[in-house]
Amino acid sequence: MRKDVRILLVGEPKVGKTSLIMTLVSEEFPAVVPYRAEEITIPADVTPERVPTHIVDYSEAEQTDEQLYQEISKANVICIVYSVNNKKSIEKVRELDHTTYYLCSPFTVCVCFRVPLILVGNKSDLVEHSSMETVLPIMNKYTEIETCVECSAKNLKNISELFYYAQKAVLHPTGPLYCPEKKE
Ligand code: GTP
Ligand code: MG
Repeated sequence: MRKDVRILLVGEPKVGKTSLIMTLVSEEFPAVVPYRAEEITIPADVTPERVPTHIVDYSEAEQTDEQLYQEISKANVICIVYSVNNKKSIEKVRELDHTTYYLCSPFTVCVCFRVPLILVGNKSDLVEHSSMETVLPIMNKYTEIETCVECSAKNLKNISELFYYAQKAVLHPTGPLYCPEKKE
């Protein structure tokens, strides 16, 4: 049995990483958030899979690339957050396709460490249409991507589901490239 799960949220500034974490914890959308949430630990008995779960935030404003890579190497699963109403943040996910970016991005590091990834489209309250069309080709290309989910911190939509999928990706991995021996 695995003793705990470490979930890291990454993504462009302002896509709502910190808001997602704070909303999960307080069950309401915070009006104001810091750049980076403190690491939180959810006790085993309140998680769906009964495993203590650490949730770790990332903020470009407060952390260096070096610190980001360290966190990536410690994570068991990484949520790549984009904002469904922000083309640029979706483009960043799309750029998984572009070798130049791919070679020097955190995503490369994820792929190297064989950490399962989850694509998270936040702020679904702001749009009518779904971003799935854009991200599906990326999902199909990278087996490290376990699943994708659209959610809204503001409407509390799919928040607990998102963290459940992340937990599940670690405890019940499906990706053929995932190599459990590598991460304890
Ligand atoms: P950095 O720490 O700068 O990387 O940003 P972040 O990704 O942590 O984003 P943050 O949680 O600070 O949210 C950025 C802005 O988006 C804030 O004004 C939030 O209130 C807003 N926001 C976050 N989630 C949602 C959402 O689901 N819907 C809407 N409408 N706004 C949101
Ligand atoms: Mg933040």
